[in-house]
Amino acid sequence: MSHDPQIEAVIDLDAFGANIAALAACAPSSMVMTVVKANAYGHGMVPMARAARASGSSWLGVATIEEALALRAAGDRGPLMCWLASPGAAFAAAVEADVEVTASSVAQLEEIIAVAPSRPRVQLKVDTGLSRNGARGKEWTALVEAASSARAAGRVDITGVWSHFACADDPDHPANDSQEAVFRAAVDQMVAAGLEHGIRHISNSAATLVRPSAHFDLVRIGIAAYGIRPDSGMTYSTRLTPVMTLRTRLAQVKRVPAGAKVSYGQTWTAERETTLGLVPMGYGDGIAISASNRAEVQVGGARAPIAGRVCMDQLVVDLGDRPAEPGDIATLFGPGHDGEPTAEDWAAASGTIAYEVVTRLGGRTVRTYKGENS
Ligand SMILES: Cc1ncc(COP(=O)(O)O)c(C=O)c1O
Repeated sequence: MSHDPQIEAVIDLDAFGANIAALAACAPSSMVMTVVKANAYGHGMVPMARAARASGSSWLGVATIEEALALRAAGDRGPLMCWLASPGAAFAAAVEADVEVTASSVAQLEEIIAVAPSRPRVQLKVDTGLSRNGARGKEWTALVEAASSARAAGRVDITGVWSHFACADDPDHPANDSQEAVFRAAVDQMVAAGLEHGIRHISNSAATLVRPSAHFDLVRIGIAAYGIRPDSGMTYSTRLTPVMTLRTRLAQVKRVPAGAKVSYGQTWTAERETTLGLVPMGYGDGIAISASNRAEVQVGGARAPIAGRVCMDQLVVDLGDRPAEPGDIATLFGPGHDGEPTAEDWAAASGTIAYEVVTRLGGRTVRTYKGENS
């Protein structure tokens, strides 16, 4: 006899495809790269990668070489870029697998060229103000010169130049104009050095949604493809549908008297007689302990607040006087269409961002996929 998974993240690939199409329509002259790093923001990298390609995303993006090689091992063959590597990373394997790698410094470019089994396809990363990866100022000038000489010597193909916004989810922030201007100047420097710049890209989801001047040749969409707003304060007309529904079934239901105290530390006390539902999910599955006494779960069509502290494997909800039984579905979050909380609600309740709510899911969560591309 087969059983439903105890903890199930149901991933709606039709919603994912529709989100990608809606985002592509925001940037009609640009290619789309769907970002599937970090296990596709918790949604499962390989199925999301396949669905993204099937939904018209010509490119995929990941952070690490290991992620890129995992996609290749799963049969992915399309344009694929990665961007985060320490010295000694598996650049040779990446180049062999036809993965485009990123050089953020002269030293990194030299390392890639030195170990590559054939002429590597490399994109250059310019730091325009985020101060993470990438070369800035004189180091950018040196990287352009080094890339130009290596290109002239036939040792590398420079296939793109890119950067990343710090504040694109705050469209009026002055950093956006400044970063875009630095990016344009960086591309001009490549042209002045006689180096073909290849594809230019700087936009994440937020910039794809609201900053057309920054769409360039390609947009890199992450969170919005999964149906989540980059920031809950952002407004735009593009319709996005959350892709993940996280649900389980009540393990136990019990009536407790007024004064009953719940969970470790006894931080919650029943004000009157009430019904408690035991939800078999906890921080071992990626539920934030900061959701204790704050977030809500939908049971039987209504929301029930978490009572007491989230534990490793379980949490308790206060069902009041509503009828409930063990086995009833408890939806932690979903698209919100049937009154259930969303990942954004969970983020607000637990003092984090929705990116973290979905990405940190793990432990015993089983992902199941529905939709045409499943
Ligand atoms: C380099 C790069 N591009 C694009 C993205 C996608 O960003 P978002 O999820 O905000 O669309 C990320 C994710 O943080 C990233 O690291």
